[in-house]
Amino acid sequence: MLELDGVRAGYGRTEVIHGVSLTVPVDGVAAVMGHNGAGKTTLLRAAVGLISVNSGKVLFDGEDVTTLRPSARVARGLAYVPQGQQSFGQLTTAENLQVVADGRKRGKELIGEALDLFPALRGLLERRAGLLSGGQRQQLAIARALITEPKMLILDEPTEGIQPSVVAEIERTIVALTRRGGLGVLLVEQHIGFALESAERYYVLESGRVTSSGAGGAAPESDVRTAVSDVRAAMAI
Ligand SMILES: Nc1ncnc2c1ncn2[C@@H]1O[C@H](COP(=O)(O)OP(=O)(O)O)[C@@H](O)[C@H]1O
Ligand SMILES: [Mg+2]
Repeated sequence: MLELDGVRAGYGRTEVIHGVSLTVPVDGVAAVMGHNGAGKTTLLRAAVGLISVNSGKVLFDGEDVTTLRPSARVARGLAYVPQGQQSFGQLTTAENLQVVADGRKRGKELIGEALDLFPALRGLLERRAGLLSGGQRQQLAIARALITEPKMLILDEPTEGIQPSVVAEIERTIVALTRRGGLGVLLVEQHIGFALESAERYYVLESGRVTSSGAGGAAPESDVRTAVSDVRAAMAI
């Protein structure tokens, strides 16, 4: 479980996140929604340790990781796929996967498992990542993150700017991943329908504060339509 407790963070003297608390389940999705500039990416950076937290706590599996470096959090099972599908553009798909798998005992097996989840990548193994489409790059980025065998996967707008058919494929895979068990997902997502269907819990972020939260469609006895209308009201859309 990943838990943020009253987190304040920002850039230099500018505080962007003003005391956010949220919980990501051990198995399942917590979705964060909000307009551009609300602070979603900044919140994820604070959770991963890429920016420091001014006050409040980040807990992972009950351990206080607030001051741990990003690499130490990754070693504990946190994986982060930043917004914008970053991979090594000059390396092939296969090399991008291999770079992460190197030094891991189950490296080869993990690459196989990642390719099973994203079969479209199998036909692209020799292609340079820089030549992949946005959707393919996103799949590669998630596949790379999964090779680190995370307990918690943090995804920043995985379907942004991607053609609808591939969006559906990525969404299916995210849901399938959490159903396998043993993986929590903190998902920042603009597609409210998908976010709320897949999520156990949702949070709406506005100007660095949580202005609405509740049970998502994956929570027991919840009603996704109520959640959608609550979120639309909170976001004034
Ligand atoms: N590297 C940065 N340095 C200074 N301010 C930043 C930086 N990145 C983002 N911000 C500011 O933080 C606020 C939240 O941005 P961001 O977290 O990217 O929002 P979102 O992901 O919700 O669109 C914005 O006002 C943005 O201008
Ligand atoms: Mg963002």
